[in-house]
Amino acid sequence: MKRQACAILLTILIVASMSIAPRAASREPVRARHGMVASTSEIASRVGVEVMQRGGNAIDAAVAVGLALAVTWPAAGNIGGGGFMMIRRANGDTEIIDYRERAPLAASREMYLDKKGDVIKGASTVGYRAVGVPGTVAGLSLALERHGKLKWADVIEPARKLAADGFTMNYHLTRGLEGTSKLLTQFPDSKRIFLRDGRFYQEGERLVQPELAETLTRLKEKGPREFYEGKTAQLIAEDMKANGGLITEQDLKEYQPAVRKPVKGTYRGYEIVTMPPPSSGGAALLEMLNILEHYNLAEMGPGSSDTIHLLVEAQRRAFADRAEFMGDADFVKVPLEGLISKKYADDLAKTIDPNHATPSEKIRAGAPAGYESTQTTHFTVIDEEGNVVSNTYTLNGGFGSGATARGTGVLLNNEMDDFTSKPGVPNAYGLLQSENNAIAPRKRPLSAMTPTIVMKDGKVWFAIGSPGGPTIINTVLQVVVNVIDFGMNIQQAIDAPRFHHQWMPDRIAFEPLGINRDTRSALEKKGHVFAEKPGNMGDAEGVMIDLKTGMRLGASDPRSGGVPIGY
Ligand code: GLY
Repeated sequence: MKRQACAILLTILIVASMSIAPRAASREPVRARHGMVASTSEIASRVGVEVMQRGGNAIDAAVAVGLALAVTWPAAGNIGGGGFMMIRRANGDTEIIDYRERAPLAASREMYLDKKGDVIKGASTVGYRAVGVPGTVAGLSLALERHGKLKWADVIEPARKLAADGFTMNYHLTRGLEGTSKLLTQFPDSKRIFLRDGRFYQEGERLVQPELAETLTRLKEKGPREFYEGKTAQLIAEDMKANGGLITEQDLKEYQPAVRKPVKGTYRGYEIVTMPPPSSGGAALLEMLNILEHYNLAEMGPGSSDTIHLLVEAQRRAFADRAEFMGDADFVKVPLEGLISKKYADDLAKTIDPNHATPSEKIRAGAPAGYESTQTTHFTVIDEEGNVVSNTYTLNGGFGSGATARGTGVLLNNEMDDFTSKPGVPNAYGLLQSENNAIAPRKRPLSAMTPTIVMKDGKVWFAIGSPGGPTIINTVLQVVVNVIDFGMNIQQAIDAPRFHHQWMPDRIAFEPLGINRDTRSALEKKGHVFAEKPGNMGDAEGVMIDLKTGMRLGASDPRSGGVPIGY
């Protein structure tokens, strides 16, 4: 009897240990046989899956998701902003559609400075003068034209319907709107549409956006150029003129997205395919991974003071380089090859003291050869054929500039703040930037958006990205390290607590409950300084392929309301 009881107990323990994930406990990633969409909006994820079920591929689905998010996630989903779409075709071809906003023709280097040469508070972040020429409609339609199977009218229809019929608002959206009411109230159309003139929307209520539905109807019927040359362009330009904005019909007509090749590197034998300029994300990510390759992080363990110390030291060095060197490579020289070279990382790793933090003021950019922020949004899609899309797009700040172009329902970005208003003066994210990122007509502001794909033995293993301004880069870094070094599955890697250092200010930002007292005090003893208050970071949305079975695994960030949907 006793022996029988022991056997039962042993069986229970074995079964339990088999089903327990090796490290951080998380829900399992969502699993599906054919395709998967991970986005911050369950409604938008479902739109993407329905497009694939109707015969569309991952690119058709991604375009439909991008358009749907402009309706269901107005904090960042947009047609009045811009972003980057990384597309990896099943045949191995990879390209990026860069639909980042551009500075208007009338923009100038010192446009946000007063007569004394000081930065005018809010000028690059609030209202019409903060708006860059939007690229989203041109970018999404170019992706569709080059890689999609369905027609523009078919992929825009779900968004049009959501805007016309309305959708049920969730906690994250209603909380975001109330939290941004000071900004949105300054603009009558935004106040009416998103704040119901001060009677805040409650969770579970419907948001109907008739003006946006009309705009989407025009775009559906007349095609994407309507945004740049039709009535929508005219309405945007008129509203700009009436409110001191710079964007004209000429700016809109001239806007063109760019097709780029990704920047590539390796980390412990895996290939990292990521975002080139005008994002700083890919270069900084590869620079940090190259540094971290010098250390046995797996042995140190996730969340240990040794691991955090090394990641932070890598982060402060990469962000110092970002501040100095990065900008739109179509306009300025960026030493990309040098920044991502293994040799450069060898030199940087030698400057890291395992026992002491290097004060940021002692770190200047090297010499390479040659906070909580849900204001951007990322989604990832994979289809049955194996095409993968990793897309990050943005209005910059939450609900962008706050202004809705009259008569269009289109919220406008405040991407101009990503430029350097004045070297040495931090932008809204506290980032210091250089002349390389100075404002010039048609130039694209430097971004941190980092859509990334990680390959194993030449095959796509997972795709990831996140919002969060500069924290984007460190969120992607930590997901990659969590998977590769610590063996976490994609959901665990996303769930795990994050931290962020961006060189200046010299402090570690951390998440609530993200760091225990012992670890913190060990890091403080090494000389690290922590931010005053914790705050959540990012909203990573990832897909992974189980390379043994081919199953598609989807994972959304628990920090926001995202839901992965597969079929
Ligand atoms: N607007 C945030 C970024 O592009 O990094």
